[in-house]
Amino acid sequence: MKRIAALLVILLAFGTFAFARGEQGGAAGGGQTLIGIAMPETHVLRWQKDGASLKSIAEAQGYRAEVAYGDADQNQQNRQIQGFLTQGAKLLVVGNINDGVNSVIADAARDNVPVIAYDRLIMGSADYDYYITFNNFKVGQFQGQGIEQGLNLKSATAAAPKYITLFAGSPTDNNSKFFFDGAMSVLNPYIQSGALKVVGPYPETSADNANFQRIATENWQAPIAKTRMENLLSNDARNVTLDAVLAPNDTLARAIIEACLADAKYSGGKLPVVTGQDAEFDSALSIKNGQQYMTVFKDTAKLAEAAVLLADQILKGQTISIPGAELASGALESIGDTGRKKVKAYLLEPVIITRDNISIPVNAGFYSDAEAARLR
Ligand code: BGC
Repeated sequence: MKRIAALLVILLAFGTFAFARGEQGGAAGGGQTLIGIAMPETHVLRWQKDGASLKSIAEAQGYRAEVAYGDADQNQQNRQIQGFLTQGAKLLVVGNINDGVNSVIADAARDNVPVIAYDRLIMGSADYDYYITFNNFKVGQFQGQGIEQGLNLKSATAAAPKYITLFAGSPTDNNSKFFFDGAMSVLNPYIQSGALKVVGPYPETSADNANFQRIATENWQAPIAKTRMENLLSNDARNVTLDAVLAPNDTLARAIIEACLADAKYSGGKLPVVTGQDAEFDSALSIKNGQQYMTVFKDTAKLAEAAVLLADQILKGQTISIPGAELASGALESIGDTGRKKVKAYLLEPVIITRDNISIPVNAGFYSDAEAARLR
């Protein structure tokens, strides 16, 4: 009888333990396993959406998830990442600001905490293995194609050239180079034929570092782009009418448009063809109203979903398989090259958006109902 009671106690204890385990680490996910999510900034709206999606999807999978925003300040983000490690995070999802992040990525590696570089590649580090993003060269190609289409460059001639000025994203964000090089892969042939003339600095590719720095926009700050545009309008572009501005994202596109609208040459008449990216609501509205010409839709909810799946598979030691994302290989493999290591890069597909297909992000549920109603 005593033995049966003892057995019962053991069984009960095991049952409770198994139940507790089932709750924590069952099929639904990692239970109390903490995932630390470090996003770079909030002044570009997408990161607020990315952070919120990552957290809610990870929690729905049964993980504990914390999000921190770095305010475009790498020291601040490093402190946040250190905080995640101190709290015992088992995996980090990091959209960094600049290479200053490398010391904390090394700390994570020392603690055996895997890191997923999110959207932005962490350059110069050999301390992590995974990167998930969109095909950023293609994002740039779409921007180039938007200008090609908006200016009808295929019919332009050197005798009656079109005028463009060039902007790039943050010089410390590796994506900026891919966006720019993708765009210039479409535009350079027209510049070389004389059909398109560049006003202001002309880096043929991002490899021309001196000129690239001159068109880059520190930390993607809209006021910097606006001031640079105002300066261009009153100096280099004073005696021409600009037909296009290569703008690397929506936040900067709207700042550039604002500068143009304050200039008599453009305010009453035709704005240049201005590109963008992120399909931010304000830009989608601007496109609908015929101001901004195009944007690139990157469904960040899908990126967050794919990143959490990747995290889950890494934490469970499973074979990595991410539906809807392509593992970069061949020519694309360089997308995962940190300079010290080729990490596995998983790429999602961006979509080019103009006035004609604004319904794509709307129907994908990318906006709130109230916003969607204004875009229909
Ligand atoms: C992202 C863009 C974003 C930009 C500024 C880039 O790394 O890919 O979507 O607009 O950062 O935050």
